[in-house]
Amino acid sequence: MTFEKLWGDLLPVGRYGPTGGYRRYSWTAADAECRAWFVEEATRRGLTVETDRNGNLWAWWGAPGPGAVVTGSHLDSVPDGGAFDGPLGVVSALAAIDLLRARGARPVRPLAVAVFVEEEGARFGVPCLGSRLLTGAISPERARGLRDADGVTLAEAVAAYGLDPDALGPDTERLRSIGVFVELHVEQGRGLVDLGAPVGVASSIWPHGRWRFDFTGEANHAGTTRLEDRRDPMLTFANTVLAARKKARLAGALATVGKVHVEPNGTNAIPSAVHAWLDARAPDEETLRAVVGEIVQAARERAARDGTGFAETCESYTPVVEFAGDLRDRLAGVLGGAPVLPTGAGHDAGVLAAEVPTAMLFVRNPTGVSHAPAEHAELPDCLAGVAALAAVLEDLGCR
Ligand code: GLV
Ligand code: MN
Ligand code: MN
Ligand code: MN
Repeated sequence: MTFEKLWGDLLPVGRYGPTGGYRRYSWTAADAECRAWFVEEATRRGLTVETDRNGNLWAWWGAPGPGAVVTGSHLDSVPDGGAFDGPLGVVSALAAIDLLRARGARPVRPLAVAVFVEEEGARFGVPCLGSRLLTGAISPERARGLRDADGVTLAEAVAAYGLDPDALGPDTERLRSIGVFVELHVEQGRGLVDLGAPVGVASSIWPHGRWRFDFTGEANHAGTTRLEDRRDPMLTFANTVLAARKKARLAGALATVGKVHVEPNGTNAIPSAVHAWLDARAPDEETLRAVVGEIVQAARERAARDGTGFAETCESYTPVVEFAGDLRDRLAGVLGGAPVLPTGAGHDAGVLAAEVPTAMLFVRNPTGVSHAPAEHAELPDCLAGVAALAAVLEDLGCR
């Protein structure tokens, strides 16, 4: 019951009417509402809530301290995202605590629920920003200067919500206090459907990254400029997208261009510039680097042919993550031999895995659709996820 109540209360927050998807961007009103919901629910449960120097939320069952068992996820969304990516892990964490308490279990180690900010990077471009700042995987100087689509910096955005931008940065003592981190997440593919299991344990995360491509040309009249006189960056961009698709297919990798800005964006003008973002992922880092190199080379060659300019910047890179085998096997054992499977999706757990023992649980997604309004998990599977998380937390830190 507690899962349904928590889920139902959070569901309307930040929902975007026309698509039914979510626009829960960090440090906006919708995000603040999600955070307020979390603080209220955690406080109602007698958990001690704190905001860390990077804006991540922590709700402690018992006193904070070393060797903590931490679970949680994120509440921000991609543009027009689904309800489950992130929130399922946060709601399940609170529901799992309710379940443990109802069973009379008590933590023998500090236990916390964490909510990480800007996991999707939908506003400031770098995914897992809250966990990267916590671990030092991104410098506070670079983070402070990140800008959203309106030119607002992260420093300005956090200051507007009362957080000191000068305090952003590595949180070593807090990081060292984490004994183990477990993130529950909706699966973002159909692995568990194929395996016929409601819950699984993550084995690894594909390496992935984001590259900004800037194509530049010459703005001119659509009706009077001869085709041979044009320096049209849209043409270079379009050919680069086709090349990305082909190179990825040949390499067994994935390449996506889901975000593009055109300048000046007029119907009857050749653009002066096209800015596009490549998201690339592969089973291993060698393949990923090779495929991105080939795409960049294809863009350069095409730009030379079109008389346009091309520049490329890596905005974020996440190496391959292999979750600790002993912890993974322990979780699978606690769950009665749950299946173990890899994913191509990025997570805060992937960032934390470089620093502390980390594991992930996945909940079955009947269609595999994610980062879209149709993202889904059936209620019985969500409840199986809560039960699984409770069993894991009990095994790791309760009596
Ligand atoms: C985040 O969900 C990502 O994998 O892009
Ligand atoms: Mn996501
Ligand atoms: Mn997520
Ligand atoms: Mn993610």
